[in-house]
Amino acid sequence: MDKINKIRVNTSTPYDVLIERGSLEKCGKIIADTVKSRTAVIITDDKVNNLYGYTVKKSMEDNGFNVSVFEFPNGEASKNSDTLNKIYDFLCEKNITRSDILIALGGGVVGDITGFASATFLRGIGFIQIPTTLLAQIDSSVGGKTAIDLKGGKNLVGAFKQPELVICDSETLKTLTPEFLSDGMAEAIKYGMIRDNKLFELIASHNLNNVDEIMDKMVYTCIDIKRQVVENDEFDKGERMILNFGHTLGHAVEGYYNYKTYTHGCGVAVGMCMITKKLCSDEVYIKLSECLENYNLPISVPVSSDKLLPFCSKDKKRSGGNLNYIVCREIGKAEIVNTTVEDFNNLMSDI
Ligand code: GLY
Repeated sequence: MDKINKIRVNTSTPYDVLIERGSLEKCGKIIADTVKSRTAVIITDDKVNNLYGYTVKKSMEDNGFNVSVFEFPNGEASKNSDTLNKIYDFLCEKNITRSDILIALGGGVVGDITGFASATFLRGIGFIQIPTTLLAQIDSSVGGKTAIDLKGGKNLVGAFKQPELVICDSETLKTLTPEFLSDGMAEAIKYGMIRDNKLFELIASHNLNNVDEIMDKMVYTCIDIKRQVVENDEFDKGERMILNFGHTLGHAVEGYYNYKTYTHGCGVAVGMCMITKKLCSDEVYIKLSECLENYNLPISVPVSSDKLLPFCSKDKKRSGGNLNYIVCREIGKAEIVNTTVEDFNNLMSDI
């Protein structure tokens, strides 16, 4: 799949997601064709800036942009109000106005914090996502959820702000470490589980060593599923919750280990397995767990439920004494179950 693939996301402010190998080198032209402004700030982290900052800046300058770059240290620890304030100060220093544009170049941390800066600076300026990790390409760059973390938890302050354009270049995935690739694969497997049996089978018939063969098709299909879900429920009041399959227990796993031992994808993998093992047939559980293991993802953690479950009741998706969890009794079909925290704890007490 070498041709340009474009997915139109029809949310309150519509935009295109371009999926094309090598698009980073010509992103300046693509962006110039999309926005009126010729002043842009690239927001990125040190690791991604070293790899791709020059290419993106040059392409934009060659297409008439005046470009500044704000760089912060790579990692989730940067997704906080300190970094955000530094971004605001930088934007003031560069006299950025409402008609100018921010470019989020990097993974989910860069996309989330840049999106939140764009939602709030001058009460909102435009931004473009150039996601460089699998997780960011198939999940966080599309759909307009932006946020920073607080000491009390991840993504606790945020806003919905759709980007003006998303540019996915799967060449960038070649520089990911196997751990980062696995991290994104958990979300790809999730899309198969919640919506698309064929996608699941395609992923399950590959592994970490040969997934590049199906990468473009897989990225396209995952983004298209996200598009459908987000178009139906942009503000996360109903159907969009299916994207949280595995996340309630997954966030608990991440939180219990202080976000140090398990990546987000590993947490989601364990979360999907726990709920599936508890509520679904052996056949579904075995298919899911074998597929996750193909991608070096964990299917359980060595911790008892009494230690893990308190972290579920901190989940930000909780509402009053209730929470929603997602179950896929058949591969490709998701169900949202609303229950009390107490009933959920009882259900999962022997995991
Ligand atoms: N990452 C989940 C969502 O966008 O709703």
